[in-house]
Amino acid sequence: MSDKGAFDTNVVTLTRFVLEEGRKAQGTGELTNLLNSICTAVKAISTAVRKAGIANLYGIAGSTNVTGDQVKKLDVLSNDLVINMIKSSFSSCVLVSEEDEKALIVDPDQRGKYIVCFDPLDGSSNIDCLVSIGTIFAIYKKTTNGEPCEQDALQPGRNIVAAGYALYGSATMMVLSTGLGVNCFMLDPAIGEFILVDRDVKIKKKGKIYSLNEGYAQHFYPDVTEYLQKKKFPEDGSAPYGSRYVGSMVADVHRTLVYGGIFLYPANVKSPKGKLRLLYECNPMAFIMEQAGGLATTGAMNVLDIQPSTIHQRVPVVLGSPDDVQEYISIYKKHNK
Ligand code: F6P
Repeated sequence: MSDKGAFDTNVVTLTRFVLEEGRKAQGTGELTNLLNSICTAVKAISTAVRKAGIANLYGIAGSTNVTGDQVKKLDVLSNDLVINMIKSSFSSCVLVSEEDEKALIVDPDQRGKYIVCFDPLDGSSNIDCLVSIGTIFAIYKKTTNGEPCEQDALQPGRNIVAAGYALYGSATMMVLSTGLGVNCFMLDPAIGEFILVDRDVKIKKKGKIYSLNEGYAQHFYPDVTEYLQKKKFPEDGSAPYGSRYVGSMVADVHRTLVYGGIFLYPANVKSPKGKLRLLYECNPMAFIMEQAGGLATTGAMNVLDIQPSTIHQRVPVVLGSPDDVQEYISIYKKHNK
């Protein structure tokens, strides 16, 4: 990264990066337009997140502010922003949002060839207490010839063309992969642009942190209990792993990417399918992890190989440093022969 910040005349913005990648791939420009529209939505969401407390964006959707105006809850506003920006890029045909029960089919006059699955504001339980939250997205190409429909979004993560997330943390960061590694861009509020700060990021082979909601311990299956026991009381005399859990997937996954280690939202007796959604939580994060040299599994199979059956389907997910995830997989296999 340049130490000249916004004053570096050769600074690589996300817009420039996406344009250059598009040019190299000799594309039609549709993906470039789509990524730039998502980038604009993320900037607007970031601004909304930063001033939510002042602008009365917390609380229940449909409430009124002091002037009697209708105020949208932050997640409803974020959803509207992402949908409107994507539609206006003329590059998509089917949109799947965490906020909407059914897939949204884009009007014929605004259509393009891409399918976008997204969670406009993930980690919503953390909104009102100012803990980090994020936006997650995965982009696919339409593979059939007919009229666009919900079925078009039911593609395995292996088909992802590009995926990423925005983290609204102590700074706003966009992490993006178009299948050629992972690149991280930091929002410079002074110029309103995302600046490339980490090129071709790779995850550590093995970390020192495990991350999951241990409040569910009484419902854990034996593989998870055994794995955690090994992390807390290593048999080889090595130091035990540290434990970190934000409860916002984007924050927990980003920490795992940067520091290494393992993030788990496994199945448990109460939630046999886990909690996190395949299309717009697990798949994009699995894609980023693999592109960074990490892994993402359900225990039984690689997340990216799952053939989805419904758009809001949940799957168990364990992701992070390859050695840590492999260790979990071997314990899972021992218990699930
Ligand atoms: O799916 C929404 C979400 O908030 C994720 O961002 C996060 O990883 C998870 O739920 C937290 O769930 P729990 O409160 O069960 O730990």
